[in-house]
Amino acid sequence: MAMNDEETAALTAGGHTVGKAHGNGDDSKLGREPEAANIEDQGFGWINPTLEEKGPVTSGLEGAWTTNPTKWDNGYFEMLFNHDWELKKSPAGAWQWEPVEIKEEDKPINALNSNQRDNPIMTDADMAMKMDPIYNEICLKFKNDPEYFSDTFARAWFKLTHRDMGPKTRYIGPNTPTETLIWQDPVSIGRDNYDQEEVKNKISDSGLSISDRVTVAWDSAKTFRNSDLRGGANGARLSLSPQKNWPGNEPERLSKTLNVLKSISSEFGISLADTIILAGNSAVEEAASLAGINLELPFEKGRGDATQEMTDVNSFSNLEPEADAFRNWYSGKSKSSPEELMIDQAQLLGLSAPEITVLIGGMRSLGANHEGNKSGILTDKAGVLSNDFFVNLTDMNNKWNIVGENKYEIRDRQSGELKWTASSVDLVFGSNSILRSYAELYAQDDNKEKFVNDFISVWDKIMNADRFENN
Ligand code: HEM
Repeated sequence: MAMNDEETAALTAGGHTVGKAHGNGDDSKLGREPEAANIEDQGFGWINPTLEEKGPVTSGLEGAWTTNPTKWDNGYFEMLFNHDWELKKSPAGAWQWEPVEIKEEDKPINALNSNQRDNPIMTDADMAMKMDPIYNEICLKFKNDPEYFSDTFARAWFKLTHRDMGPKTRYIGPNTPTETLIWQDPVSIGRDNYDQEEVKNKISDSGLSISDRVTVAWDSAKTFRNSDLRGGANGARLSLSPQKNWPGNEPERLSKTLNVLKSISSEFGISLADTIILAGNSAVEEAASLAGINLELPFEKGRGDATQEMTDVNSFSNLEPEADAFRNWYSGKSKSSPEELMIDQAQLLGLSAPEITVLIGGMRSLGANHEGNKSGILTDKAGVLSNDFFVNLTDMNNKWNIVGENKYEIRDRQSGELKWTASSVDLVFGSNSILRSYAELYAQDDNKEKFVNDFISVWDKIMNADRFENN
């Protein structure tokens, strides 16, 4: 959730300012879970035979945290800090913290019987708010400044419930706060009144190779996550910490490429973010033309750049990948295999199996591999947007041998001559029946144009995945 200590303490304390824990009964008497319950229970489970008489049994802890658990007040801290606590068993048999001594009028009123008052309770997590030195300091500050506590809670609650909504441009309705918050990953608005062809020509003449240009655009866009709509090319955060230092982005090479693109972006007065995408597009267009197919990639102007101050380095660190199948890179630090990480990466990018397939084949032909490794470059025409990867992967004149962890050789079946090397990510497109069916489709002689068109469509999808103002 990317909450800091203060936000964590505010949420826990604020959450437990209202409500109660439920454990006034015997959980062994509860009915079966929803999936196993009777049809007439209509999806409800854990039917409680003593519900009316004793209330629900959920966590097994029993009691409220504050004297007035239906009121937003500072009672949580008063209760926690003004009493000593000891471990007691709840009626359901769970361990919970109860005050060693408490005045009758400070006890919360029983939820079912207004004539009865019961001991308040604390969980271990609540006790940490007093016993842990860092939480203790934070909570004492909250105790002494209720307004500060309420504001911190409100902000943390807003973050908790909105951080998976993506950038602020996606918010609608009159209650949207005007204040911009750092966790919203703000990006300034970029210019869109310029001639993209002029910029593209300048980039093509800049000396950056097809591989350099494809790589920078890909690394910029690939951080997009369909899960919480963070990351992506808008903002050009690839040129900022922490992304510019990630080993998967080849920092030294990246810095050289970015220097060239930065000078072009300032010459035209446009965002670096747009310039990066135009660099990728110009390279893909050139590579397609080398394959005999002339076309212009779709392009939406108007990306803006973020500054380092607009970037929460700590929270962006969570976007660092452990592998990038599309650049044939694997950090070796994960418990998952490179192929599994490819599926993870692809689902975050919102890609289907055919899209993953055509993207892998295209990226290999464009020579986008990490640090120029040759794994899976099953062609002697690197930089040409050809379907060679699929043709040679599925060619029965070859045989495949494992030679090390995640290392394979592709040799001529007759002569034994070594032709190429490959990773498990490459070979899974031959070994997995579903992926193979797409690989065979793209290997077809009469599908060369379809391969280029499908590659361009998935490329475009990724380059624009975070353009919510247009999508
Ligand atoms: C440190 C992490 C937390 C732990 C371990 C924790 C634990 C618990 C437990 C065991 C219960 C009793 C559930 C029951 O018996 O029905 C509970 C209830 C509750 N929690 Fe938390 N909680 C945590 C954080 C939070 C946060 C962040 C919020 C909201 C911002 C929150 C809001 C509540 C509320 C409102 C109830 C009462 C529900 C009711 O009245 O039925 N808790 N919590």
